[in-house]
Amino acid sequence: MSDQEHTHFGYEKVKVEDKSQRVAGVFHSVAAKYDVMNDLMSGGVHRLWKRVTIENAAVRPGHRVLDIAGGTGDLTAQFSRLVGKQGRVVLADINSSMLSVGRDKLLDRGLAGNIDFVQADAQKLPFPDNHFDCITIAFGLRNVTDKDEALRSMHRVLKPGGRLLVLEFSKPKSQALEKIYDTYSFRLLPFMGKLVANDADSYRYLAESIRMHPDQETLKQMVLDAGFERCDYYNMTGGIVALHKALKA
Ligand SMILES: C[S@@+](CC[C@H](N)C(=O)[O-])C[C@H]1O[C@@H](n2cnc3c(N)ncnc32)[C@H](O)[C@@H]1O
Repeated sequence: MSDQEHTHFGYEKVKVEDKSQRVAGVFHSVAAKYDVMNDLMSGGVHRLWKRVTIENAAVRPGHRVLDIAGGTGDLTAQFSRLVGKQGRVVLADINSSMLSVGRDKLLDRGLAGNIDFVQADAQKLPFPDNHFDCITIAFGLRNVTDKDEALRSMHRVLKPGGRLLVLEFSKPKSQALEKIYDTYSFRLLPFMGKLVANDADSYRYLAESIRMHPDQETLKQMVLDAGFERCDYYNMTGGIVALHKALKA
């Protein structure tokens, strides 16, 4: 089989058509404990990474925002407050379990009045051209089988002048940090996953998928190749996470 027929699921080489099922298995499995594990694994720092993303989104009352791969809705909750009654936020995710945890959480917070919950694949977004003022994808892109197709799809549904924000794990800037981070992710993460969620495999996938994801400069080029302009990125926590920001002309 040629390489075009294969992709990566973590470190494992799998057939392209099998990847989304494997990813679905991970997120069906982690959905119920996703929020608890996020806080535990990052020591709460994911909240800071997400806050920086919100600050860079420049979302205003009346805006239409798409939070693709939105999962349990951390970004959507903030956007819902910012766009107000005249605006709209779409929380879209391919996975029904993650969506339903997200919907319950936001309903419990009394936030769902201006939010639509849509099951959708980032590669084939079911929205009109030039529709959203802002699109975010947080910790989602590395799970998508064809990232280039997903970025092109986001470009299509973003309005001219609109903003794309990609928050994702990336490559640490120093070797010392990379070493500590490797030990943490390949030893501690699966152990915590086993202890708290009884699911070491999903958290091993998490660590592996992070290592397989394009680094800062490669992702920047992919964003530009998809048609976006003025792409820039900000490293956070020493490059463990990067926020890529781009515009549609
Ligand atoms: C690590 S979670 C991130 C959730 C949320 N954005 C956050 O930051 O907490 C990754 C999410 O990506 C979703 N996902 C994976 N592949 C996808 C795809 N092709 N299209 C849309 N969502 C996808 C998963 O179902 C999961 O909810």
